[in-house]
Amino acid sequence: MLLSLDKVTTYYGQMRILEGISLQVGEGELVCLLGGNASGKSTTLKTVLGVVTPRSGRVLLDDKDVTGWPVPQRIARGIAIVPENRRLFGQMTVRENLEMGAVLRHREKLDDDFDRVHALFPRLLERRNQLAGTLSGGEQQMVAMGRALMSRPRLLLMDEPSMGLSPALVQQNFQIISEVHQSGVAVLVVEQNAAMALSIADRGYVLSTGEIVLTGSAAELLRSEDLKRAYLGR
Ligand SMILES: Nc1ncnc2c1ncn2[C@@H]1O[C@H](COP(=O)(O)OP(=O)(O)OP(=O)(O)O)[C@@H](O)[C@H]1O
Ligand SMILES: [Mg+2]
Repeated sequence: MLLSLDKVTTYYGQMRILEGISLQVGEGELVCLLGGNASGKSTTLKTVLGVVTPRSGRVLLDDKDVTGWPVPQRIARGIAIVPENRRLFGQMTVRENLEMGAVLRHREKLDDDFDRVHALFPRLLERRNQLAGTLSGGEQQMVAMGRALMSRPRLLLMDEPSMGLSPALVQQNFQIISEVHQSGVAVLVVEQNAAMALSIADRGYVLSTGEIVLTGSAAELLRSEDLKRAYLGR
């Protein structure tokens, strides 16, 4: 299995945020993690990336226990993240932002990496010398995704890619996530927009106050009355 969380419990100080969650993402799979505000979605991604360490339970990459590993080592094993609110370097150009995603890559391979990202997002080639902070929201999302793809990840973590975008851009964004997935990259996408996420996902999990309360194929979850209840229940 590419990624497994095994009964992960995570605290911030005295506050228990994740309560023994287990989930898997297989090679090349597109999995969504759904849940309302403050249910622990971002904390789950931070636990996978290694920004926070679980109090108990394990994080496995390629069936290897990486629970205590620092972030750079996990990135070197093929994880990349498109963080909540994109977190671009606003005073740096589009090109420089993309380069930041490739710091662990060999210099001579960078041209290929740029070409792949520009093929997905031609706009970023046009805007390569523009300061990232002056881009539109949709363009900033492209930079954030392009930056993550510069490291040629095997597992892409995405935290609420639809946040703050118009419905048309959300649609376009999910189309691109789907293309990235079809190119062979596994994706774990966190979303509040359940219908949109499930429209492109293979499987999903639903998180409610730090616990996985529901899981199934995308088709099952789309039909599920429990999914509606899990959302309305908050
Ligand atoms: N660094 C932190 N210190 C203390 N508490 C935190 C910290 N980060 C998050 N929390 C708390 O943990 C809980 C879960 O937060 P998290 O960001 O994982 O939720 P989320 O599902 O991503 O929410 P949202 O949909 O609003 O992004 C929240 O109650 C939040 O206030
Ligand atoms: Mg969040």
